[in-house]
Amino acid sequence: MSTPQQVTPYENDKVSKKGQVTSMFDKIAPYYDQLNRFLSLGIDVLWRKKTINLLSEYQPQTILDIATGTGDLAIEAATRIHPKKITGLDISANMLKIGEQKIAKKGLQDIISMEVGDSENLRFEDESFDAVTAGFGVRNFENLEKGLAEMYRVLKPGGVIAILEFSKPRIFPIKQLFNFYFRYILPTIGKLRSKDQRAYQYLFESVQAFPDYEKFTTILDKLGFVQSKYKTLSAGICCIYLAKK
Ligand SMILES: C[S@@+](CC[C@H](N)C(=O)[O-])C[C@H]1O[C@@H](n2cnc3c(N)ncnc32)[C@H](O)[C@@H]1O
Repeated sequence: MSTPQQVTPYENDKVSKKGQVTSMFDKIAPYYDQLNRFLSLGIDVLWRKKTINLLSEYQPQTILDIATGTGDLAIEAATRIHPKKITGLDISANMLKIGEQKIAKKGLQDIISMEVGDSENLRFEDESFDAVTAGFGVRNFENLEKGLAEMYRVLKPGGVIAILEFSKPRIFPIKQLFNFYFRYILPTIGKLRSKDQRAYQYLFESVQAFPDYEKFTTILDKLGFVQSKYKTLSAGICCIYLAKK
């Protein structure tokens, strides 16, 4: 299967994109939540809320949150949808450790369980979940189509996916202003605060390479999803993609 993503966090040909992404998130895990709030001026919280609001219409009882990281989308789903069970899966053990602490603090451990795993090779049986979600995760996959095909496989017939991901704003002057912030200011602050030279530069580069809007729904259609659609947030800084099996 072809992958449109060639962007990697570090310039290291010997380590796969997946290996580099894992190391990067393991390294920035202690700073991740704080930097999200700071760099987005808190708007990332609203983006996740909106995603879960749209998902709540389907009332899923079993949810798989892939690339769950520190668990913010899973926590939002647990508190707003009240499903029976949420499984949060991530390739970075350090991100999950922080997520598990947050879940315990909120008393949500009976609903949300976290586990280390690769979204491109899920251990779950076919048709296991009512919904599969991903917040800012799919852009980091080594093979985007393989990861999306796995989401499709583990989804029950009639089940729904909700994917929140950065996109490239298309409207003047948001496009120009945001590009300047995203390309120059955000990586500089990110470098200083996360102690990783490349993480927030990679963020910009990976968003530029990501197939957003119709390009993404076309991939979903090709993989067998139906009723695929997207909703733009904050003038196109992000999109929520919804599709059914
Ligand atoms: C930007 S964070 C998003 C975390 C969280 N979903 C959120 O909304 O803040 C991306 C996460 O994707 C995870 N990730 C990247 N590739 C993955 C893969 N193949 N399988 C599982 N997790 C992956 C990273 O470890 C990281 O925690």
